[in-house]
Amino acid sequence: MSGRAFYALDTRARAANSPAFTARYRVTDSVFLRACRREPVPYTPIWIMRQAGRYQPEYRAIRSKVSFVELCKNPDLACEVTLLPVEQLGVDAAILFADILLVLEPLGIGFEFTKDDGPNIPHPVRTAADVDRIVEDIHAADSLGYVMESVKRIRAGLNGKVPLIGFAGAPFTLASYAIEGGGSKNYPKTKQFMLTDEGLWNALMRKLSRAIADYLNAQIAAGAQAVQLFDSWIGALSPADYARYVQPHMKSIFDSLTPGIPTIHFGTGNPALYPLMKAAGGTTIGVDWRVDLGTTWDLLGHDVGIMGNMDPAALIAPREVLKRRADEVLASAGGRNGHIFNLGHGVFPEVTVDAVRALVDHVHEASAR
Ligand code: CP3
Repeated sequence: MSGRAFYALDTRARAANSPAFTARYRVTDSVFLRACRREPVPYTPIWIMRQAGRYQPEYRAIRSKVSFVELCKNPDLACEVTLLPVEQLGVDAAILFADILLVLEPLGIGFEFTKDDGPNIPHPVRTAADVDRIVEDIHAADSLGYVMESVKRIRAGLNGKVPLIGFAGAPFTLASYAIEGGGSKNYPKTKQFMLTDEGLWNALMRKLSRAIADYLNAQIAAGAQAVQLFDSWIGALSPADYARYVQPHMKSIFDSLTPGIPTIHFGTGNPALYPLMKAAGGTTIGVDWRVDLGTTWDLLGHDVGIMGNMDPAALIAPREVLKRRADEVLASAGGRNGHIFNLGHGVFPEVTVDAVRALVDHVHEASAR
């Protein structure tokens, strides 16, 4: 496609959902994948972390019948909830419906979701014997075969409309669950583990990293067109500790991934880590709302893409405030190639579907070029 034809596109045909758009561009030319490659786009692509979830009445209806883990393990239902926000909101990418904790099962660590408290790891990893017992090679294509089946069904269901993002949890974030036994505020046991026996910590991180790379490559082989690594709780670390205890493991994952597939490296909580995260890998860095996106991008350099970073709270603010906040993010990105609009972290369950739809429409319209 010539650049001129791309830009000459009628405004009304610009929304990724419009038949005119899908008829005209193959999915390799999708706005999202183009932004991943830092190529020019007719408008800024947007997707929303946790775009399938409890804020949707349809999701809540499905969840009233099956548990969260059952939902993750049922490819028909996982496919249904993955496609829902694509149809409902007009976002520019789908994200596989699954959870970062699923990989703990084939690793032999295990997990459960309790009714009120969220994730629980009944047998936390605390000793050398615990690390020793962790499975060396998980063969994700088989042990997490239900995820690969979901990926295949989602790709078929999307039928080229928008690309599919696969994902996994990053090793520090996964280790924090495995060691604490669940969610945590200060990560005391994780840090005690890390600071007490560096060799054992590295052994644990190596096993997790190997499994994560295998899992992501299996998702790519099944049809995921981009992958995101969620290091949601990495902000608990200082830059020096990140560089010493985490960065080499992150780098080993990025170095093991199937070449040519866009990789989003997402982290929250400590802006000082972003340059170190970039050095570890990722074609796009996902940043939270605690930073100014443009300033952070200047600091990282424009040889990497950036994703983010509206405060999720803007979606529960009055509509004019929501639009102003979206405009501020777009202005901060300055229309540069390589910006993917997202929230700085997951959408709140309190948000209405109408508000998210208004955001998606506004970003498409306000960023049209
Ligand atoms: O983004 C998407 O729409 C794709 C699906 C997705 C889920 N979890 C579904 C989910 C993704 C990408 C995740 C990643 C995930 N899971 C992360 C990293 C992203 C982040 O938000 O930081 C983390 C830390 C987890 C672990 C996890 N899963 C926790 C702590 C919880 C309980 C808290 C909560 O928000 O409910 C979950 C449950 C979970 N994962 C839900 C969904 C839709 C809610 C489950 C329900 O239906 O009750």
